[in-house]
Order: sequence, then structure tokens, then C-alpha cells
Amino acid sequence: MDKLVIEGGRPLDGSIAVSGAKNAALPILCASLLTEEPLALTHVPHLNDVRTMRTLLSQMGVRIEESGGGHMTLEAARIEWPLAPYELVKTMRASILALGPLLARCREARVSLPGGCAIGLRPVDQHVKGLQAMGAEIDLDHGFIAARTTRLKGVRFVFDVVTVTGTENLLMAATLAEGTTILENAAREPEVVDLAECLVAMGARIAGAGTDRIVVEGVDRLRGASHRIMPDRIETGTFLAAVAAAGGEATLTDARPSSLESVIDKLAEAGATISTTKDTIRISRKGALAPTSLRTAPYPAFPTDMQAQFMALATRAGGTSVITETIFENRMMHVQELKRLGADIEVEGSTAIVRGVPRLTGANVMATDLRASACLVIAGLVADGETTIDRIYHLDRGYERLEEKLATLGATIRRVR
Ligand code: EPU
Repeated sequence: MDKLVIEGGRPLDGSIAVSGAKNAALPILCASLLTEEPLALTHVPHLNDVRTMRTLLSQMGVRIEESGGGHMTLEAARIEWPLAPYELVKTMRASILALGPLLARCREARVSLPGGCAIGLRPVDQHVKGLQAMGAEIDLDHGFIAARTTRLKGVRFVFDVVTVTGTENLLMAATLAEGTTILENAAREPEVVDLAECLVAMGARIAGAGTDRIVVEGVDRLRGASHRIMPDRIETGTFLAAVAAAGGEATLTDARPSSLESVIDKLAEAGATISTTKDTIRISRKGALAPTSLRTAPYPAFPTDMQAQFMALATRAGGTSVITETIFENRMMHVQELKRLGADIEVEGSTAIVRGVPRLTGANVMATDLRASACLVIAGLVADGETTIDRIYHLDRGYERLEEKLATLGATIRRVR
């Protein structure tokens, strides 16, 4: 199993380009199921989750060609098997995103229930409830969601909780439904907007994406289109947090600063100096780190996917930070590992009280999920001596060439097998 070995204590300096967003690419790959014509995508990140989605769609009968440099064309001329098997769904929950498009296009679908995962229970009841409201008959049998319909019908649906993939699933389903669908309490994440832009390019009629009320006029068919995947705001935030923690000065290109304002504000509060253009972010951190308290919440508030990385930053601040996780019930597994590096953290329920310490010291640690792994990389970059991070397959699911990019900025980091 691959490990990362980091020699900490070096500042990060230089320039790197941000990759395409994992959480925009995954739903947009599924949107290819909605048309028999080719969907041409650019800026698709090379990640294990994207490879898993590719395998899933290929098994259904989608023809996929990759021409390098993040170009991918998907053609779902015929869907042979509207099925997402357990073996793939268990490795990647985002497979649930096939449910809405399959049901809309094939009028039937069989998708394995995702089950629990490391960061929490993560039910899919809102996806199911929404599709039922649109007229789907859904049975849960032998661990599968078995869904069928004569044709989905437009409805007004109010989500009980704000759910990103739930919103994306119903948005895709609604594009081919009969009549108008109104999604209330919809997720406002930039990835939902990116998906909506791709669907509009395919001929869908959507208004309000990026607000909590999305209106979709169903059409009879969608056509092929081209779309560039938006920059990954969480990868961007992770590099910014790394520079803020390690010190130094770096520029991120191909970024979209407007998609991570809450993160940029918190980094400034922590003592970083940040300037932006439309697609670049320049960060430097020379002085002391200040404590930053935060609470995760749906967009545009502070993202849960950046909570762990900020905790790594807080471990070295000159004071106490209070970090509260409100989205997932079990997303503090990095705390134990940070403590192995010498961090002073106390957890009470879903809140971590982080007292900054003058130094962290390198040790062997274990990655438990994607963003927890990124947190440990940041901690390793600031710890004295050598830190070895085990189980980095989590990182490979969601970060493109992380160690190469960090090495470009001057980090001493290597992968060992
Ligand atoms: N929830 C329900 N019922 C549902 C759906 C969600 O109760 O039917 C709850 C969840 O249990 C959770 C909350 O609603 O407490 C929000 O979950 P959401 O559905 O928004 O999460 P998701 O769509 O499964 C996406 C990202 C996650 C990110 C969350 C929150 C993708 C593929 N995944 O997950 O990304 O943390 O939104 O922003 O878009 C990651 O990239 O590391 C990652 C975990």
C-alpha cells in the first residue's frame, strides 16, 4: 500500500495550476446518460473516483474516449444495463448520481444502496423521496434501489435537508420529466451550478441554479454538448491552507476565487495575505498564525470538505480555535492522528477545541478519509522531522498528483510503495 513520506519545516513557494473539480466532474459524467449524443468534456481531473465512475458508465454501455489532457467524450447511444452494482457503489457513494439520469432516460434503474461510510451515515432518503414525488415507483430490495416509471412528472419538491448530490440527482431527472419541476431548499454549491450549465448546453431549461429554488421545464430530449469542468475549489482551498500553514508565497492559476470566498476570508483571519484576479489566487504568510474559529454549513458558508485542513492550520496558531462540524456526524477522525504529531485538541460532540502549540513533531499516521488525508499532509509539512502517512489511497480518490504539485512548491515529499 502506498505511503507518503514528508520532511516538514520548509516554506512553500512558487506557482501551480488547479485541476478540474471532482465533485463537478462526477455528476456531469452521469449527465451523459441523459442523451444518445456525445458529451465532450474538458478539464476532467485524473482521479480514482473519476476512473470508478468511468467503469460504472462503461458497464452500462456508455462509450468513453479519453484523448489526454483531461479531454473525455462520453456517448450513451444505447444504455444496455441501467444498473449500478454494489462492488462499485461501495467504493464510491457518488455512484448514486446515476439513479436520476437512468430513470429519466430508461424509465428504470437499479442502483445499490450506498450504506454507511467513514464520515457518517449519509442516507439517500431525499433522493428516493424526490423521485417518488416525481412519480417513480421505488422498491428497496436486497440492498438495491429498484426504480421504474412510465415517465417522470414535474412537481414542487422541498428538500428536508440541503443535499448536494440529492439536488443534482433530481435536477438531472427533472430535465426529461413531463412539465415543470420546482426544487426548494436546493443546494447552492458551485458544483450544482456547473452541472446546470452543462445541462443547459445540452438543451435543458433550468432557472435558479445557485439559489435555493431551482425551476426546471422538462424537455423531450437532450442533445450532445461541450463543457469545461470548473476548477476544484476544495483542492484550491487545500493548497491555500498548506501555504498558510507552512509559510511562503504561492500563486494558484486556473482557479475560481469566487467559489471559495468563505475559505479565503478565514485564511485572511488566520494571518495570510491574499489577492485574487478572476482566475488566480496569490497567497503569502510571513508572520504568526492567528486562531480561527469556524462552523461548517452548506454553501456559501464554510465547507465541511475544508474543515480537516483548517484544523491542521489551527494546531500551530497562537491561541485557541473552536471548530464545529455540522454536516457529517463523524468527520473528526483526523483529531487522533493530529494528536500523534503533538497537537492539543479536545473534542466535545461535534466541536473541536484546538489549542495552538509551538511545534508539531513528525510521526507515523494513518489517513482515514479523503479530506482527513489532506489535513495530515498539511500537518506533515509543518511538523519537525519526518511524517509518514499510510493508506493514502484515500488521497488518490480526490487529489490529482498532490505530491508532485507540493514538490513544485518546494515541499520535501515522496511516495513510497
Ligand atoms: N442527507 C440526508 N438525506 C439524504 C441526503 C443527505 O439526510 O438523502 C444528509 C447527509 O447525511 C449529510 C447532509 O445531508 O448530513 C449533507 O449531505 P449531502 O447529501 O449534501 O452530501 P453528498 O451529496 O453525499 C457531497 C460531496 C461531499 C461533500 C458534501 C457536503 C459529492 C460527490 N460529494 O456529498 O464531498 O462533503 O456534498 O458538501 O459531491 C468529498 O469530496 O470529500 C466529499 C465527501
